[in-house]
Amino acid sequence: MKRTAILILFLISMSFFSFDQSYDLKASMERGKSIYEAQCMSCHMAEGEGLPGVFPPVANSDYLTDKNRLVKVVLKGVRGEMKVNGTDYNGEMTGFQLSDQETADVLNYIGNTWGNKAEAIKPADIQSALKATTKDYQPY
Ligand code: HEC
Repeated sequence: MKRTAILILFLISMSFFSFDQSYDLKASMERGKSIYEAQCMSCHMAEGEGLPGVFPPVANSDYLTDKNRLVKVVLKGVRGEMKVNGTDYNGEMTGFQLSDQETADVLNYIGNTWGNKAEAIKPADIQSALKATTKDYQPY
């Protein structure tokens, strides 16, 4: 009886150690989809296509490759001239109040939907991205 209890304890502790720690991109994108629909879709549109000359697209957009810039754009906003996929924009977007997790989630959704394919962003990446210097970036 005692031996069985020890065996069970051993198996339980093993299951903690073998827990898969790899980042679950799919789950992050699922959460990000709701954030996108609630907070971004009104301007960047259902398919991320934006509105040419007014709201830049987030589908197949040039900026999607720069992780540090993306984090700043979402949390601190952005203003001033930018050229996205050859079209000029000169508007402004306020920053959003999102947790590190939510920021990673919404960027993972944008980065991997509508044919986009970006590296996964983790909550632990957000604060360092905010501190990094980004050329030609103007916060709101
Ligand atoms: C009220 C409209 C509006 C909302 C809502 C909005 N944006 Fe924007 N967004 C803009 C505008 C306008 C720009 C371009 C600013 C400029 O010209 O400097 C922009 C630029 C961007 C850019 C940089 C350009 C690009 O295509 O990569 C990203 C990324 C972005 N927004 C993501 C988001 C995300 C994520 C959300 C939701 C959390 C969001 N936006 C919500 C209006 C909006």
